[in-house]
Amino acid sequence: MNRKTFYITTPIYYPSDKLHIGHSYTTVAADAMARYKRLKGFDVMFLTGTDEHGQKIQRKAEEKGVTPKQYVDDIVKGIKELWKIMKITNDKFIRTTDKYHEETVQKIFKKLYDQGDIYKSQYEGWYCTPCESFWTETQLVDGKCPDCGREVELTREESYFFRLSKYQDRLIKHIEEHPEFIQPVSRRNEMLNNFLRPGLEDICVSRTTFNWGIPVSFDEKHVVYVWIDALSNYITALGYMSDDDSDYRKYWPADVHLVGKEIVRFHTIIWPAMLMALGEPLPKQVFGHGWLLLEGGKMSKSKGNVVDPVVLVNKYGVDAIRYYLLREVPFGSDGIFSNEALINRINSDLANDLGNLVSRTVAMIDKYFGGVIPEDRQADAIDEDLKSIVIETPHKVEKLMDEFQFSLALSEIWKAISRTNKYIDETMPWVLAKDEANRTRLAEVMYNLAESIRIVSILIQPFMPETPEKIWNQLGLTAGSEATEWESTKSWGGYPAGSRVSKGQPIFPRIDVKKELEELEKMTGVGDTAGVSRGNGGSRHGDPEIPKDKKADSGAQSAEEYVTIEDFGKLDLRVARVLDAEKVEGADKLLKLKLEIGNQTRQVVSGIAEYYAPQDLIGKYVVMIANLKPVKIRGIESQGMILAASHDKDLALVTVDKGIVSGSKVR
Ligand code: MSP
Repeated sequence: MNRKTFYITTPIYYPSDKLHIGHSYTTVAADAMARYKRLKGFDVMFLTGTDEHGQKIQRKAEEKGVTPKQYVDDIVKGIKELWKIMKITNDKFIRTTDKYHEETVQKIFKKLYDQGDIYKSQYEGWYCTPCESFWTETQLVDGKCPDCGREVELTREESYFFRLSKYQDRLIKHIEEHPEFIQPVSRRNEMLNNFLRPGLEDICVSRTTFNWGIPVSFDEKHVVYVWIDALSNYITALGYMSDDDSDYRKYWPADVHLVGKEIVRFHTIIWPAMLMALGEPLPKQVFGHGWLLLEGGKMSKSKGNVVDPVVLVNKYGVDAIRYYLLREVPFGSDGIFSNEALINRINSDLANDLGNLVSRTVAMIDKYFGGVIPEDRQADAIDEDLKSIVIETPHKVEKLMDEFQFSLALSEIWKAISRTNKYIDETMPWVLAKDEANRTRLAEVMYNLAESIRIVSILIQPFMPETPEKIWNQLGLTAGSEATEWESTKSWGGYPAGSRVSKGQPIFPRIDVKKELEELEKMTGVGDTAGVSRGNGGSRHGDPEIPKDKKADSGAQSAEEYVTIEDFGKLDLRVARVLDAEKVEGADKLLKLKLEIGNQTRQVVSGIAEYYAPQDLIGKYVVMIANLKPVKIRGIESQGMILAASHDKDLALVTVDKGIVSGSKVR
């Protein structure tokens, strides 16, 4: 018999320099769901990946003096590594730079063009040259660029447009007829009232102002708009329009696209309209979760206080971090990340409630019965309440998981754990153990404890990849056996007679709160509330605006990130005099500089054109890295890099404050 399929996706991530704990939130949630569905017997397809095209990436690569592909390759490696560390069990990882994806996006674009859903027209709008961004009249602030505040010009650019307006009525109808399509309900109302009902306009779906994107196959000076490119990943990954589309036929439509709330509108308006145009079924659900924020609601983009999931996993283990993420914040709402809340959760829920329950039970079975609970046991009416509460738990968990209520599902499991701890207090095994006449009763109490822990250990599997097996080892259970199957949680008595427990390490050691907070503070530089930024892929033309934190970088460093004086000594920093400067043709951001260092001259390409006019640079004494490996930028060799300070949209060159000969060493 064919198993039921379940197709779940995360958004594909911008390759920003560092993914933070907020990014891990979406993926951990999707992973918990994928694991849960697998445990329930579904044939699961869990997709994640990276969204690698666009102007921002092109610029960053230029700044670094590498090609966009080199730039993303490096970061994508780190992202894959992070998912390994977080124990993410994705079945596929798609990169939008994968050849098969690019080819299919071209086919999709062509098909929509051939059938008239994409057409060529003039894009008319306000253009901010320094930002290379288009704005509509209403987006301008006092007639100036809303991003940088500078003058804008009215421009016309030939572009391709997608007939989004044509699908407005069908979209509204679909959303109204399928209340489950956009979840939670608040996001559904927001889409209907704020976007769909006021009316949709056709959207511009190609760009000519940069080239790091998928070329339009029949008009190569255009690249496909990043969101058309990115959204298509959900079907290109399954082989849509390719020679082997068996996965597409098997898994599409997706059961759920899990996305952060700020990108719900792309997933519930542009994406379904594209699918309607392609004549394909729509995903069954788009679930928009909330954000993990800083205390005070502020999010920080600055590196110093971004919470690094790897640091946390190394300190506390992956299960503790995953537990915290899914327990602390009701899925759908925003939540606050704080070190203190994390440590408190670890101490109270994990070390105390669960960890102690396991160690105490195992220690008692060991002490009273030499590790094996006797089969001769005597039940009592007092046991019934425990049994009924624990046995109800899997049903409640399933219902809540089906509604993406991770936090509530965990809370139900912890109710069962608390009830079991209370059972120890009620039955007082240490008193029973004093009299040999209570031996059968004591055996029953031990059995009930072991059985309750067995059930709990199975239910926590979607959330915690490591703990269940640790518990099974202590209880004498074997992974993969009947006693560890999901369905076995629904009837009491699955703990196999004759199992031998063995004492082990505490599964969650207690943490010294004060000491740990001080240590975390040193590492993050932000006291007990570490900052969580919201990705720094940044907003592209037409992307939703994300609140930005204007705070300066704290400059704080984690212990692992210090460099030694030897490391620093490897850099050959020199004072250089600017002999000449000129704009690089076709690149609005770049200047080509001729520099003098002592009796040598060097050519350096630098991304400072927005901030300095070429003539103003001539004669300046700047600081350069003279031993940087030369690279080609836009075909021009750059033999080093000059230093500049930057903050938000501002940039200032590093210069020396009195005349000193060029070539002088900077140390
Ligand atoms: N590339 C787009 C998605 C394209 S999907 C066709 C994108 N990428 S992202 O890297 O900026 O974000 C990826 C996911 O991380 C999004 O779901 C986003 O909401 C989530 N998060 C990033 N910061 C977050 C928090 N601080 N908290 C919770 N989730 C957040 O958007």
